[in-house]
Amino acid sequence: MKVISVVGARPQFIKLAPLHKAASDHDINHLIVHTGQHYDDNMSDVFFRELGIPKPDLNLNVGSGSHAFQTARMLEGIEKCILKENPDWVVVYGDTNSTLAAAIVSVKIDVPLAHVEAGLRSGNRRMPEEHNRIVTDHCADLLLAPTETALNNLVLEGLKVRSHLVGDIMVDSLKFVQETLKSSPVDIENLCKTNEEFVLATIHRAENTSDSSRLNSIIDALSSFNIPVVLPAHPRLVNHCKTFNIDLSRGSLIIIPPLSHRELIAVALASKSIITDSGGLQKEAFLLKVPCSTIRTETEWEETLIDGWNVIVDDLSALQEISQRPIPTIEQPTPFGDGKTAKKIIDCLSK
Ligand code: UD1
Repeated sequence: MKVISVVGARPQFIKLAPLHKAASDHDINHLIVHTGQHYDDNMSDVFFRELGIPKPDLNLNVGSGSHAFQTARMLEGIEKCILKENPDWVVVYGDTNSTLAAAIVSVKIDVPLAHVEAGLRSGNRRMPEEHNRIVTDHCADLLLAPTETALNNLVLEGLKVRSHLVGDIMVDSLKFVQETLKSSPVDIENLCKTNEEFVLATIHRAENTSDSSRLNSIIDALSSFNIPVVLPAHPRLVNHCKTFNIDLSRGSLIIIPPLSHRELIAVALASKSIITDSGGLQKEAFLLKVPCSTIRTETEWEETLIDGWNVIVDDLSALQEISQRPIPTIEQPTPFGDGKTAKKIIDCLSK
């Protein structure tokens, strides 16, 4: 069997790693196409090195740009590659523009398409990721749902026959990273530039960074915390703060460069609580049993809200108080599966 995985952004490299390993274990010819959506070493290459993913077989180097510019360049490059390689499956991950581009190409030239992390819905049509997910799911031949909620969303959209519940592949990845942290730990104090208790914050979504007053209110709220707030800054956040003249070096904020995945997990584990707008980090917080506060109006990962492990924060004036709530004491359920998702995906592809 020949499989092409198309990836392009940080969270996709994390999902790709366990699938590549499982594919190698099953003697599958697995080719990796990197669109080049993320290209800085600390947004891309470091993930390949750390997670043991081989160098991509092809890098389209599309870089940054408007949604249409970026997606159009990907469409051309991915089509050429798929026509040349003629794979049995194209596999896409999550909800980025790279996911969308590979989905459109595959359905148009009639190559079977599998979507890892199918069925996620925020119900928020203003999110670029929401358009990407819906289009991708409706193009895909095999919908690999991470949770019961995701599977139900697919059923509601008439996609039941193509859908399978396989669990969340990020659990596979997290287990691997936690093992590597045991044998080679990370110097948290050096990375976070503090020896005090701290909160970990990440902000990158368009809805939080593209509007100057929204972004300013978030930075204001974080900088007025009574404990240090360590913020590994996504380039989008830094760029928009520069454009809007928003000072990032104030109050309790400690701005650090983007972290590798191992570093992020180590810092998350060491933090008192997490504040984020990332989907992946909401789940990682839940799995690592660190309370999370999500700066959004909704979450696709509603299982993380169980017992208050994750709380959606609308009113930024309450952010500090909410983020310092006590850790839930009730035993956690396991809505994201058992960490054997990659193997289940390979079984689905093989069948
Ligand atoms: C993308 C995904 C988002 C995902 C996120 C993970 C889409 C629509 N969004 O958002 O779902 O959660 O990746 O990070 O696909 N930049 C750099 N260096 C890089 C990459 C980006 O400087 O290596 C800067 C550029 O200024 C670029 C901006 O970051 O314009 C945004 O990057 P882009 O890939 O367009 O979207 P993300 O915000 O990263």
